[in-house]
Amino acid sequence: MPQEPIYAAIDIGTSKVVSVVARLGSEGELKPLGMGSAPSLGVGQGIVDDFNQVKDSVRDSLEECLRYVGRNPVEEFLVVVNGDHLVSENSTEMLGSGGDSLTVTEQHLRSLISSASGVLQQQLDNRSEQMLHIIPMRYRLDGVAGVRDPTGLHTNELELEAHVVRGMSVPLGNIARALQACKIRVEGMVSHPLASAEGVLTADEREMGVAIVDIGAGTIKTSAYREGTPFYSSVVPMGGNQLTRDMAVALRMPYQIAEELKLNHGHVLPDDLDPYEEVLIPATQVQPKRVVRRRELCEPLYLRSLQMLKLINEELSKAAMDSPLHGGIVLTGGAARMPGFAEMTARGLRTQVRVGAPLWYAGLPDSMRQPEYAGVLGALQWSVKHRNRSEPRFTREPRERNWSPGSLLRRPFARVASRQSERD
Ligand SMILES: Nc1ncnc2c1ncn2[C@@H]1O[C@H](COP(=O)(O)OP(=O)(O)OP(=O)(O)O)[C@@H](O)[C@H]1O
Ligand SMILES: [Mg+2]
Repeated sequence: MPQEPIYAAIDIGTSKVVSVVARLGSEGELKPLGMGSAPSLGVGQGIVDDFNQVKDSVRDSLEECLRYVGRNPVEEFLVVVNGDHLVSENSTEMLGSGGDSLTVTEQHLRSLISSASGVLQQQLDNRSEQMLHIIPMRYRLDGVAGVRDPTGLHTNELELEAHVVRGMSVPLGNIARALQACKIRVEGMVSHPLASAEGVLTADEREMGVAIVDIGAGTIKTSAYREGTPFYSSVVPMGGNQLTRDMAVALRMPYQIAEELKLNHGHVLPDDLDPYEEVLIPATQVQPKRVVRRRELCEPLYLRSLQMLKLINEELSKAAMDSPLHGGIVLTGGAARMPGFAEMTARGLRTQVRVGAPLWYAGLPDSMRQPEYAGVLGALQWSVKHRNRSEPRFTREPRERNWSPGSLLRRPFARVASRQSERD
C-alpha cells in the first residue's frame, strides 16, 4: 500500500523553534500529527549566531514534535529561513522560438524557469549568495504583457516575469547544518515573508492586492501580493524583542520581567489607557517591588512602535510603488498581538488592517491558531503546493556537499533581463 504523504516544516525563529508534521485530510486540508516548540537560543534577528545553542533548541523542538508523531520516523523537513540577507527583485527571462511560432506547453514554462534559474544562479555574488525562489508572476507573449497562463497560446517569443528571492549562503548553510546535526535532511527552504503569507492570506486578498507584515521577535517580514502572486518581499532586523528591551531600560528592570509585563500589560497607545491604572513591578535582587502607572510602562512601547511603523511604511512604499493595495495590510507574527498596534497601523497608514492567524488548518489546537505560527504553518502549505513540481519556485536546498567552502564564492548578482539568443 502506498504511504500517505507526510509534510514537515520547521521554523528556527529568534524567540522559538517550532516544528510541525502533518498529513493531508480527504478534502486536501492539512491535519497536524505532531508539533514541538522550544525556546530559541543562539538566534539573533533571524540568523544563527551560536551554532551549538541553536542545535540544542532544534533538537528539543524536534524531539517533542516527533514524540507526538510516533510512527514512521520523519527525516526531512522544509525549513523557514529568515534574516535581512534575504533580498528580492523581479526579473525577466525570455525564450525565443528561433523564427517559427510555438504553441506554449508546460514543458516550455518549465524550461523557461530552469533557464532563468541557471542565468540567475551564475550571476550570484561570488558564491556567497544562494537562490531561494523564482516565482512566476506573469508572462509576456510577443511583447503583450500580463498573461497569467500562456499554455496553449501561440507566440514567437515567450517572456517570464518572476519574483526572485536570494540569500547569503553562509547563514542559509548554518541553518542546514543545525538540522543535519540533528540527523534531519533539509527538504527545501522557504523565505519567512513568503511562508507567513502562505499561512494567513486568503486567495481573495492575494488577488486584489495585499501586504502582509510579520512582526516576530527579531525581524519584520513584509511581502506584497497582487493578482495572486508575490511581487515584493523583504526582511528588516527589528521586532518585539526591541519593545521589551526598551521597557527594560526605561524602567530599569531585567529583560525577563519586562517581557512578562509587556505580555500582560503592554499597549502601544498609552493615551487610550486609564490614566490611574497601576501595574506592580516585582522585586528584583537589587530593587524592591514597586508600582508604576500603566501609561508610564507603555510609553517606551509607543515610541518604538512609531519607529516600527515608519520602517513598515518604507517597506510598503517600496512594495506598492505605483498602485494601491486594496486588500490593505495583514499583520501577523507574535508581536502583531500587541494591543493597540493594529489600530496604530490603521490610523498611521490610513488603510484597513487585520491581524492574521493561521485559521484553516483542520484539527489545529487553539494554542497554535495564533499569529506567531504563521511562518511554520505557512511552510507546510507551501510544501503541499510545491512538492514534486519540477519548476524551481520550490527551490530545493543544496545537499551537504554543496555547502562546502569551495561553493561559497560567487560573482555579484545583477538584474537579469537576459535573452535566450544572447546566451546561445
Ligand atoms: N500577546 C502578545 N503581545 C505582545 N507581544 C507578543 C505577544 N505574544 C508574543 N509577543 C511577542 O512576539 C515576539 C515573538 O514573535 P514570533 O514568535 O513571531 O517571533 P519569532 O518567529 O521567534 O522571531 P522572528 O520571526 O523575528 O525570527 C516576541 O517579541 C513576543 O514578546
Ligand atoms: Mg518568525
